Amino acid sequence: MSGFERYFADPEFVSRYVEQGPAAFMPGHAGVLQMAGVLIAEAAPADGAVLVVGAGGGLDTRALAQMEPGWRFVGVDPSWKMLELARVVIGDEVSARLELIEGTVTDAPEGPFDAATLILVLGMIPDDGSKLRLLREIRRRLRSGAPFVLVDRCDDRQGPDFRRNIDRYAAFARASGVAAETVAGAYESQKANPGLVPAERNEALLVEAGFIDAELFYRGMEWRGWVAYA
Ligand SMILES: C[S@@+](CC[C@H](N)C(=O)[O-])C[C@H]1O[C@@H](n2cnc3c(N)ncnc32)[C@H](O)[C@@H]1O
Repeated sequence: MSGFERYFADPEFVSRYVEQGPAAFMPGHAGVLQMAGVLIAEAAPADGAVLVVGAGGGLDTRALAQMEPGWRFVGVDPSWKMLELARVVIGDEVSARLELIEGTVTDAPEGPFDAATLILVLGMIPDDGSKLRLLREIRRRLRSGAPFVLVDRCDDRQGPDFRRNIDRYAAFARASGVAAETVAGAYESQKANPGLVPAERNEALLVEAGFIDAELFYRGMEWRGWVAYA
């Protein structure tokens, strides 16, 4: 066993990601994934196909798979390391209804899918047309009326509260027990993140990409979650 595979076979490494990854940075992460499942179940069939964009790490797929044993999943992520971690986190019991693809949304099958998620991904994508292209590619893979769950951290870099908000982001992670050097690195990445946009921008992009009836179902500090429909 070599390189990262060794880490992914190490239960301590995997549990550190599960407990100190997104769950330690985003308030109420487990509840958000549970709400995502509830919102998808409202509009998708019990044997529906779910497209998980940015499926690396596996937390979103694992939570949804536990909620509905009939859902089938296609997950895409450009990072094979994150996909390997996803395989471990999601677990063997889901493998029969899971396909993981190394790549971006354009490498996903055409569908149509009955639901899609984009959780903690859009904020990493620059707003130079790339965010819109990603949302459009998801939208065109969904059947009409299918739910789409978008979750991300948003902020206005030019706004008066930008510094306060990013200090809170770091303070929350520290309070979750994340190591100081990890928090410091995340703080600098967020501060310089070219993909960070205000919440209103995400709402405008959803409309431009063709989604309708977007509803904000979650806000925790500057983190937001929307459900919208194709
Ligand atoms: C913070 S992780 C979130 C993973 C997972 N959705 C979750 O909530 O636990 C962000 C993931 O997005 C992936 N990613 C980055 N750019 C992407 C893109 N253009 N399309 C799909 N996934 C992307 C990264 O490789 C990484 O695995």
